[in-house]
Amino acid sequence: MKILVVGGGGREHAIIKALRKNPAADVIYALPGNGGIAADAVCVPIKATDIEGIVRFAGEKHVDYAVVAPDDPLALGCVDELEKLGIPCFGPRKNAAVIEASKAFSKALMKKYGIPTAQHRTFTHMNEALAYVEKMGAPIVVKADGLALGKGVTVAMTVGEAKAAIREMMEGGKFGASGSTVVIEEYLEGPEVSVLSFTDGKTVVPMVSSMDHKRAHDGDAGPNTGGMGTVAPNPYYTPEVAQRCMDEIFVPTIKAMAAEGRPFKGCLYFGLMITRDGPKVIEYNCRFGDPETQVVLPLLESDLLTVMRAVTEERLAETEVKFSEKSAACVVLASKGYPVKYESGFEIELPKLGPDRDIFVAGAETRDGRLLSHGGRVLGCVAVEDTLEKAVAGAYETADAVRFENGFCRRDIGKRALDALKK
Ligand code: AMP
Ligand code: GLY
Repeated sequence: MKILVVGGGGREHAIIKALRKNPAADVIYALPGNGGIAADAVCVPIKATDIEGIVRFAGEKHVDYAVVAPDDPLALGCVDELEKLGIPCFGPRKNAAVIEASKAFSKALMKKYGIPTAQHRTFTHMNEALAYVEKMGAPIVVKADGLALGKGVTVAMTVGEAKAAIREMMEGGKFGASGSTVVIEEYLEGPEVSVLSFTDGKTVVPMVSSMDHKRAHDGDAGPNTGGMGTVAPNPYYTPEVAQRCMDEIFVPTIKAMAAEGRPFKGCLYFGLMITRDGPKVIEYNCRFGDPETQVVLPLLESDLLTVMRAVTEERLAETEVKFSEKSAACVVLASKGYPVKYESGFEIELPKLGPDRDIFVAGAETRDGRLLSHGGRVLGCVAVEDTLEKAVAGAYETADAVRFENGFCRRDIGKRALDALKK
């Protein structure tokens, strides 16, 4: 079977390694993949946003199945176009990917269907937005409507900060068209939990929960990044919280999307905050999280390709999706200076890995047989163990065995989760 995976980061590497476990997956193409993924798939230099190029390639190679992993191609309708060629896909169509692509859409959906989330208002006129934050006071949260590489959110502790963010988005054009509409919402407090789920539009099966570490530096300091590390499961996601999420958030969201004529098929990511009033949605993503996937898929005991095809064929209700009881941790090695300013082209030497250890390559290229860093986040070093404490130690042991001069990592991945377990 020929499988095409669109994307080229650590998440895609984790997906490809999991797909490879099925012997039916004899050829996997990664578009564009990267120098590390090249060890596990045939990388083809077609950008994930080049929908025409992807579709042409898929047609020429007679691809049997496609997995579209990143948000941009999903929002651009990559799945719709591949389906027109008769290629079955894992991933939502454009009309369902909007759940991530437009915060104004997702907020309106939650309001209409009574799904718990922060109170909000949407603005297209700057002066009205400025007057609103003046009235509401701080802390308050300002979000650009569209995709902004995870950087379109300002959690403002003062009214001045909120106003500056609004001006930058609506006047400064910082996020282009993504910022011409802003969502202003109530500030929520509580631990954050990521839950990825498989859904075929009718049934929703949550995967093991996880915790991301979004800030660049230890102690949750420094600028927001794509994610510096993850652990799974997340100790704040107790069985009681999980049940409430299922009843109040997951099932209602799947039903709401179906009722709107936008059935969601693929991986729906719930970014949740466990507030004093219960779990609330911070954001939806229409795809696997990165680096959440790097800890979630190593804990999946069922075969990923089988589960994905059950999603595509709307047979998820009859399909077993089993996760291990173990824990996993991922420590990201990034280029020094990430996410602000960094250099690429530094040589990387990967260590030999024992069982239950893995390294997913997020940003690297190969030149003359050497692996060179290429991008901000470079490697995800992963360990699976019986306890979270051992998994975190294992992930650091792996990260410390990598030779990558220009690399850095946070030293406190998993600390908050381990502290919560001790309470
Ligand atoms: P998002 O891109 O929507 O996930 O937001 C990025 C981060 O901003 C989240 O992970 C939260 O830490 C924070 N955030 C977003 N919305 C809120 C909110 N309403 N209250 C407090 N923090 C928030
Ligand atoms: N790690 C957060 C995300 O994938 O959006």
